[in-house]
Amino acid sequence: TEQKGTNLTWHEGEVTRAQRGELLGQKGATIWFTGLSGSGKSTVAVALESVLHAQGRLVYRLDGDNVRLGINKNLGFTAEDRTENIRRIGEIAKLFVDTGVIALSSFVSPYRADRDLVRKLHQDAGMEFIEVYLDVPLAEAEKRDPKGLYKKARAGLIKNFTGIDDPYEAPEAAELVLPSHEMTLQQEVEALLNLLKARGIIP
Ligand code: PPS
Repeated sequence: TEQKGTNLTWHEGEVTRAQRGELLGQKGATIWFTGLSGSGKSTVAVALESVLHAQGRLVYRLDGDNVRLGINKNLGFTAEDRTENIRRIGEIAKLFVDTGVIALSSFVSPYRADRDLVRKLHQDAGMEFIEVYLDVPLAEAEKRDPKGLYKKARAGLIKNFTGIDDPYEAPEAAELVLPSHEMTLQQEVEALLNLLKARGIIP
């Protein structure tokens, strides 16, 4: 996205990210869940949030309801709008990471370039970004169809539906791949906790 404002200068404060992290006893990070609609992104994010919270970690979920109904209410599902949706969510996640929070982001985020941009935004700022791919076959997601949207998309009532008439570009180097149709929720959470430990995000 083009930088429209001019004469801008970043104003450095006197409290650092590391100091905020010390206060919380944790290091902020973005855990970025991606996958088809119905692949289990929100389910695993909700479960992970509960476990981390119970361990005394400050964790916050970003997902469709609190973003597409709020700050991104002016965005739909064209390629351009999805790209802007993901860019803004990436920037919001960064703000959480900067405060020391573990941000759990669950969006379809179907385009590889958009996810890679968010990864770069984090890495350029020295922030942890962990991409988690909910890898389920389309047939499986379509069988679940929790909101009945695949049925509508097949009937032509929804256009540009991911997996039907809009692409899903699978990650090529996700930090973690979860085939949620072959795992229990508990196994998924276990795998995530192990990864967060290995990365030094939680002790
Ligand atoms: S994106 O592509 O990342 O900007 O999408 P996201 O913000 O995650 O929103 C996806 C959820 O919106 C519903 N929905 C659609 N998904 C895909 N394609 C189209 N055209 C579409 N229209 C509505 C869908 O229920 C997604 O929810 P989840 O929770 O992923 O099932």
